[in-house]
Amino acid sequence: MNGGHYVEISHLDVIYDVTKGVFSPKQLVHAVNDVSFTIEAGETFGLVGESGCGKSSLGRAIVGINKPRSGDIRINGQDVTHLHGRSLHDFRREVQMIFQDPYASLNPRMTIGEILSEPMVIHGLHRSPGAREERVTELLRTVGLKPDHVRRYPHEFSGGQRQRISIARTLAVNPRFIICDEPISALDVSIQAQIINLLKQIQKERNIAYLFIAHDIGMVKHISDRIGVMYLGHLVEVGDSSEVYFHPLHPYTKALLSAIPISDPDVGKSRKRIILEGEIPSPLNPPAGCPFSTRCPLADEACRRMPKMQQFGSHQVACHHVNQSV
Ligand SMILES: Nc1ncnc2c1ncn2[C@@H]1O[C@H](COP(=O)(O)OP(=O)(O)OP(=O)(O)O)[C@@H](O)[C@H]1O
Ligand SMILES: [Mg+2]
Repeated sequence: MNGGHYVEISHLDVIYDVTKGVFSPKQLVHAVNDVSFTIEAGETFGLVGESGCGKSSLGRAIVGINKPRSGDIRINGQDVTHLHGRSLHDFRREVQMIFQDPYASLNPRMTIGEILSEPMVIHGLHRSPGAREERVTELLRTVGLKPDHVRRYPHEFSGGQRQRISIARTLAVNPRFIICDEPISALDVSIQAQIINLLKQIQKERNIAYLFIAHDIGMVKHISDRIGVMYLGHLVEVGDSSEVYFHPLHPYTKALLSAIPISDPDVGKSRKRIILEGEIPSPLNPPAGCPFSTRCPLADEACRRMPKMQQFGSHQVACHHVNQSV
């Protein structure tokens, strides 16, 4: 049963069948491979890893866009992979997702007022038109837009403003958990900080849990309480945000972090630049054993076996070569 965690993901697998024709050999992409982690109420869990490692597939599985092949997703102690009827309806209110592309995620033919009212109608909230109008005005104010924006259409806004509208839309149903899938990567650098600050402020006011997906581990560190690092469908390290950032244990996390400048002089001095050799293997044909073994400077015979996630201090790491004494 649930050990008191708000979100509990256990042994989750997401597989895509990309077989070309009926007579071709079966081709499966194992996008999420035996992933387990937890998120507490009101917490931000940052998920990082290179393009194609399975971050969006994981996020989409949690909101139910992708059906997981196997594994458990529990929210508030309830298995959400087989919901229907009333409980599915309630789940869709509690868990929301913000997407990378604020252009594609808003219906161009609806006004902002309609876009923000629609989820309230679907979920039977603020039943009278007057109450909905009041709530729309309040939502626009929350995300820093003006009440007279209600009659405008999405194309009349900038990218940053559109992302604010997407955020307002997710807030319309009072969610307790929002999956943010690279919500700022399509935006101008100057706007990114504003959106991040907005998300943090909303979280503080409403105690919402975030799964925050991004490439940039520096930014993820800034916003997250804990961080998970993914490689080729696997979660390879999980820990408190500063711990993972300043004292990474998995060789892949070390390599990821070695590529970015660190302002802390003590950490900066001791950190060697690690250049990873070779390409990320194809998820259609992953290496046997440890997924990182083909590029890992520490790889040896032992790495032909899949390493299990183990606790090292406050970190969990899947590597045969992390020293027990760290
Ligand atoms: N609908 C799909 N059908 C088939 N394969 C898919 C599908 N969506 C994703 N994949 C494959 O699954 C793997 C993981 O993709 P995913 O989009 O989850 O990665 P990501 O970590 O979100 O990458 P990015 O950082 O580029 O957004 C990739 O190999 C990708 O090509
Ligand atoms: Mg993605």
